[in-house]
Amino acid sequence: MYFESHAHYDDEAYESDRHEILLKIKKAGVDYVINAGADLLSSEKGIQLAKQYDFLYTAVGVHPHCVNDLKDQDIELLRQMAQEPKVAAIGEIGLDYYYENSPRELQKQWFEKQIVLAKSTNLPIIVHSRDAAQDTFQILQFHYKTLPKGGVIHCYSGSLEMARQYVEMGFYIGIGGVLTFKNARKLVEVVEHIPLTYLLIETDAPYLTPVPHRGKRNDSTNLVYIAKAIADIKNLTLEEVADQTAHNGKKLFSL
Ligand code: NI
Repeated sequence: MYFESHAHYDDEAYESDRHEILLKIKKAGVDYVINAGADLLSSEKGIQLAKQYDFLYTAVGVHPHCVNDLKDQDIELLRQMAQEPKVAAIGEIGLDYYYENSPRELQKQWFEKQIVLAKSTNLPIIVHSRDAAQDTFQILQFHYKTLPKGGVIHCYSGSLEMARQYVEMGFYIGIGGVLTFKNARKLVEVVEHIPLTYLLIETDAPYLTPVPHRGKRNDSTNLVYIAKAIADIKNLTLEEVADQTAHNGKKLFSL
């Protein structure tokens, strides 16, 4: 059994064969999928998908790339969406200074507004952080004690030291396809030292396809390559990694 903790099946990359792909991944043993929201429209699409597929749950939230388009009152739209029955998290939310599609100050404001929303709706958060490790950490350090359900640092790319601090704060570490890339030395170190009870696996499909399918469109059947890489690093069986990360996912998202 696999637990996909982060994918984007509302994405237009699946426009022509979404139904076939979702049937395929279910058949391949992916028993849970968390669909991550990217903006308001994608969050709404995620809710619709969750109504159609029993194994798919969804997160609602606005990615730092997209906060430029938001109006103040949109937080109320997100609040309404968060009440839908299969919404399991607020996300993905956070900071992205690599692309910097939106000004940093605005990214920080919406990150915090959506953290506050997670507190009031009693949901965990899915955090996106790219080239913004220090600011992300500072904001989460300020809020974690009053965040009832914690969250996951998705597609983790930071240091081992910071991962340890996140774990101490009760966050999970999301491990994606980057672990299978040749230059993943830092992430290998994280996987080696962080206990399996704090790891989640994710594809971030349609992006970040792991080796050996790098370059092709991603989907959750590729979780096996990420789980295998973790198993090899930790000297465990594939099944142990799949089962424990599924257990972790069910716990974090209350499923
Ligand atoms: Ni994502």
